[in-house]
Amino acid sequence: MQANQLRRLYIDFFVKKHGHAEIRGASLIPENDPTVLFTTAGMHPLVPYLMGEKHPSGKRLADVQKCIRTGDIDEVGDDSHLTFFEMLGNWSLGDYFKDGAIKMSFEFLTGSSDDGCLELPLKKLAVSCFDGDNDAPKDEESAKIWQSLGVPKARIAFLPKKDNWWGPAGQTGPCGPDTEMFYWMGGGDAPEKFDPADKNWMEIWNDVFMQYNKKEDGSFEELKQKNVDTGMGLERVLSVLNGVRSPFETELFKSAIDEIRLLAGYDKPDAERQKAERIIADHLRAATFILGDKNAVAPSNTDQGYILRRSIRRAIRYGRKLGIETDFARKIAGIFVKSYGDFYTELGENAEKIFSELSQEETKFNKTVNKGLSMLRKEIELHEADKSKGINAFPEDFCFEMFATYGFPIEMTMEELHGNGWIKDLQDREKVLHDFEKYFQKHQELSRVGAEQKFAGGLADHSVEVTRQHTATHLLHQSLRNILGTHVEQRGSNITKERLRFDFVHGDKMSDTEKKAVEEMVNEQIKKALPVSWSEMTVEEAKAKGAIGLFGEKYGEKVKVYTVGDPDKGTVFSMEICGGPHVKNTSELGHFKLVKEESSSSGIRRIKAVLE
Ligand code: ALA
Repeated sequence: MQANQLRRLYIDFFVKKHGHAEIRGASLIPENDPTVLFTTAGMHPLVPYLMGEKHPSGKRLADVQKCIRTGDIDEVGDDSHLTFFEMLGNWSLGDYFKDGAIKMSFEFLTGSSDDGCLELPLKKLAVSCFDGDNDAPKDEESAKIWQSLGVPKARIAFLPKKDNWWGPAGQTGPCGPDTEMFYWMGGGDAPEKFDPADKNWMEIWNDVFMQYNKKEDGSFEELKQKNVDTGMGLERVLSVLNGVRSPFETELFKSAIDEIRLLAGYDKPDAERQKAERIIADHLRAATFILGDKNAVAPSNTDQGYILRRSIRRAIRYGRKLGIETDFARKIAGIFVKSYGDFYTELGENAEKIFSELSQEETKFNKTVNKGLSMLRKEIELHEADKSKGINAFPEDFCFEMFATYGFPIEMTMEELHGNGWIKDLQDREKVLHDFEKYFQKHQELSRVGAEQKFAGGLADHSVEVTRQHTATHLLHQSLRNILGTHVEQRGSNITKERLRFDFVHGDKMSDTEKKAVEEMVNEQIKKALPVSWSEMTVEEAKAKGAIGLFGEKYGEKVKVYTVGDPDKGTVFSMEICGGPHVKNTSELGHFKLVKEESSSSGIRRIKAVLE
């Protein structure tokens, strides 16, 4: 079974057999969600609809979503962890609930391949259900449904919130208990009793019953609309179907890993080389997708750009460990562009950019790395006399300075410190990480929260501030087109609670007069107190009406168009294709201030603005 087939089977099963609409997966880099750097799950872009907004494609949806999770980046190299992965998902927005979701999952997993199902043997499956706590009751209902389908009681485990609950970690938003499906990866027969701690049981699919909203005070309220959010790991299921233990042994990675071995000049890896080649392939695959995204970022020292830089540099570093010194990142990326290009056409479209960014980053890194390593080793030697003081002999900002001055990823400095006996135990490690994070945060632009913690999970933040800025972004977009010309098109948008950022096509630096005119035009619309409304139509209708927005949608697909202004009164200022949410009236926005206008990349300008 190949990835292309599996994606098709999944979508066809839900679309043709069970009345779902196929929707396009969202960008890897979220546009209006300050709580995460990357899309970490398929439900992420759907949060407004889980909270009750109407989705233009209906109540049953299915898609393939590109995801990035970096919370487990240190685990990459083993059999199962991946930075980038694809999630196959089906949703019910107030339509079917536990019974429907579980029955469909069961049918797809165990049904006959003649009927487009996976035909996995029931005797290798196990499931877990939520055990219940003060917030929500034990999920006996799901367990009963599984049993009615033939899953033996011994193969059903009840687990607490940390295992069987999906939703916001310390934040607000839709969430609920889930039921997870596991497949026996150990050889021979699976044990009769399901032991979730046994790593031979691999989780392959998760059905989440989103029936609560977590509030600011930490309490849970029942949602009016009961939803289902499911996520099946494409790479994992592909391993299962091909009888291999790890995604790294599937076709998704084979060519890349073969090429790495060729460049490094060995046939069979030992354990250390296997880890290195997996890290290289994993990180460069993630980098390829970040650079090939419609909201792509370039390597930098903040936010997504930092994660990208760190991934590329870590891959290069492991390449060096294997003895690969040449410009190789782009070669590996080329393999991914080719193998994923049919499904993810954006990779082919952005291939040149992907390759040139990787080459540039590799050159930059190679230049600094030699200089930096000798500096680092000198520093370490200088401190050698203070060894009795332990890691405290180094200044608190040491690792951060190595990063800021030489672009050394934290783990690279840590590895040297470790190799020289400065980092001895977990406590030393934590101190170094903590100090780094402290200085890193100070350095972060506009006080975003710590980089790592943003990957733990997190859900879209539709707080009032974010919604206001979202509407302001539409006003800004239209004002830019009115003043600079209709060549202005959105190239990226990012909103935090504090500010909005908007990237757009425009060749020249904006003059002070232009900036002022744009600012005034936005504020005029705010003063006019224009109503904001939306309606549903096909992409073609939206275009015909003159709506702006990203036209990546498929032919005939239904979209939401937000209108600022009243058509009956002739006060329409902007129409834009967008999922929402937005304020009801522009008077809610306050005063718009353009803080900065700068270059983002060639031919693209960037504006940062705030609402006061
Ligand atoms: N949102 C659920 C997950 O990511 C399906 O596991």
